[in-house]
Amino acid sequence: MNIGIIGAGNIGATAAHLFAKVGHDVAISNSRGPESLRGLVREIGPNVKAGTVEEVATFGEVVLIAIPFKDYKTLPVARLAGKVVVDAMNYYPQRDGQIDFGSLTSSELVARHLPHVRLVKAFNTMYYETLATAGRPGLGDHLVLFVAGDDEEAKGVVSRLIEDIGFAPVDTGSLRDGGKQQPGSPIYNEPMNTEQARSALFALGGA
Ligand SMILES: NC(=O)c1ccc[n+]([C@@H]2O[C@H](COP(=O)([O-])OP(=O)(O)OC[C@H]3O[C@@H](n4cnc5c(N)ncnc54)[C@H](OP(=O)(O)O)[C@@H]3O)[C@@H](O)[C@H]2O)c1
Repeated sequence: MNIGIIGAGNIGATAAHLFAKVGHDVAISNSRGPESLRGLVREIGPNVKAGTVEEVATFGEVVLIAIPFKDYKTLPVARLAGKVVVDAMNYYPQRDGQIDFGSLTSSELVARHLPHVRLVKAFNTMYYETLATAGRPGLGDHLVLFVAGDDEEAKGVVSRLIEDIGFAPVDTGSLRDGGKQQPGSPIYNEPMNTEQARSALFALGGA
């Protein structure tokens, strides 16, 4: 599958490594432009390339967003229309400044900026070093990556990608329910297997 990644830092570069390793074709971008990503591309190998944000958004059948939350309004609305877009971003006021969410979750706010995408909140709950090292493609007691979204088919696509790289997807519900995946939640940045994830969600009043 063609996967675009916007943001090439801790989480974007880690995801690029993992997706490329299991045979997906990856295009990755940052704010400084493709030239600055030469080293990363060389390190990962032939099935990754660097591009501009617009090129990467066009390339991806699935596009992972891994930039600071405060920059979400720079995401290219038209190029991303119709795509499965994965929101891996988290809002931290001390880093991102004060943002008025009203009653919305962070992904619901992103969905307001990207009204025509099939948005899935995922890859936001795990520390990047755990993501880099804890995947176990194949059988095993996998750690969980949570998914939330209003488009069931899109969640299915993202869930299969999660399985490809050796983690277990667990559905937390709608994009609104994805609030359970935000910083401060008991399921945020707490490595757990499926059974532990299900009891934690049950305690939160979920699935
Ligand atoms: N770190 C984690 O373990 C972790 C885990 C889960 C989720 N997250 C979330 O994922 C997001 C990224 O975190 P990170 O730790 O990977 O950050 P990071 O290491 O600081 O990397 C941020 C990346 O985003 C790029 N970027 C910034 N503004 C951009 C824009 N407007 N357009 C395109 N690219 C842009 C940066 O490019 P330049 O370097 O060229 O500016 C850089 O490649 C955050 O929202 C974070 O909360 C992080």
